[in-house]
Amino acid sequence: MNDGAAGDPASIGVAVLLTNWTGQGKVDGLDYAEAARDQLEFLLMNVPRTSDGAISHRTDEVQLWSDSVYMVPPFLAYYGAVTGNQTLLQEAYNQIKLYREYLRDEHANNMWKHIQLGSYGTDDGHWSTGAHILRYWNAWAAAGMLRVLGTIKHSDFANSMKSQQKDLANWVQEIHSGMYLHLDSSGLFHNYADDLSTFTDASSTALLASTVYRLSLLWGVHKHLPAAELCRRALSASMDSTINISASVTSSVSPPTSTSTSSSPSASSMVSGTNMPGMLHFTVDGWLTPVVDPYAFSNQGQTSPEGQAFVLAMQAAWRDWVEDGAKGANTAVGTIAPSYPRTVAQAVVAGVLPLVLEV
Ligand SMILES: *[C@@H]1O[C@H](CO)[C@@H](O)[C@H](O)[C@H]1NC(C)=O
Ligand SMILES: *[C@@H]1O[C@H](CO)[C@@H](O)[C@H](O)[C@H]1NC(C)=O
Repeated sequence: MNDGAAGDPASIGVAVLLTNWTGQGKVDGLDYAEAARDQLEFLLMNVPRTSDGAISHRTDEVQLWSDSVYMVPPFLAYYGAVTGNQTLLQEAYNQIKLYREYLRDEHANNMWKHIQLGSYGTDDGHWSTGAHILRYWNAWAAAGMLRVLGTIKHSDFANSMKSQQKDLANWVQEIHSGMYLHLDSSGLFHNYADDLSTFTDASSTALLASTVYRLSLLWGVHKHLPAAELCRRALSASMDSTINISASVTSSVSPPTSTSTSSSPSASSMVSGTNMPGMLHFTVDGWLTPVVDPYAFSNQGQTSPEGQAFVLAMQAAWRDWVEDGAKGANTAVGTIAPSYPRTVAQAVVAGVLPLVLEV
């Protein structure tokens, strides 16, 4: 398939490396290592770069897209970890550092722009400040950085790459701070940073929440756990959403099956008909909703395979965090009032989200 994306194909590279490593190639009669090597060489040798070395997200000209941080550096890092090549782990870090320098917008709470450079990037000039910040793409960037952090941390080079890990952890937090500042009182993000009239996006909400649990596990940073918990509960809310969301933080650390409410389907859920019985954010077929259309990302879409994956990422990260003792849950609750984003605080005050007050 030739759609001009240089970075996207690499996103499956981690799975290819893992498959090779398990020896599945002998069973399948396929050379997964060779496939991974070809992909690596293509990225390093054939794809255009900026003068300072940032690998383009496109093959035809240099364009930097924030989601490339999820597609390319995790593959480079994983390749380096599996083959014992520190140069590649360092290259993964370098790429993120460069992308951040190009895309971070200090006028938008350090959130990242979606695209810079090339013929798409110039479109930014027509948009008011912040309009080029789509939360969806910030969640991708944070998740990519987190994966590289996790890979370096669990590699043989963890000790000699401490400062790189620290930077990555800080840059993930930078996006968390920018994003959660404007979390909607519904517990979801609006897709555009500066326009609350734009639709809310459950997929970035789920993906970013997963990075909060992971950062807590990997780096002991618990600052945004209240926000992540709010998001997770909002996404798993029943139509009678105040019932679910008002569950205390203590009850949130029990397995998901036991946190489901005993509420019977409300009148509104029966009226809707297109939702999974009682679920506010899942259709009857199990699709997360509302979501960014992955094929036209400034629009709201009906179904998003990515959104489905992000729900699993969130649930898996949350489960691991709970199994690890839900560290920081109490700290987070203790510090919730002064540090909480304004919109969330308002929601709590309004009684929509009385989660803190009950603890
Ligand atoms: C493929 O897997 C083998 C071990 O199973 C490993 O030695 C080799 O480095 C791997 N190659 C790549 C490119 O990951
Ligand atoms: C690490 O990977 C790069 C890129 O493929 C390669 O040029 C270099 O020789 C490798 N280094 C080692 C020590 O294998």
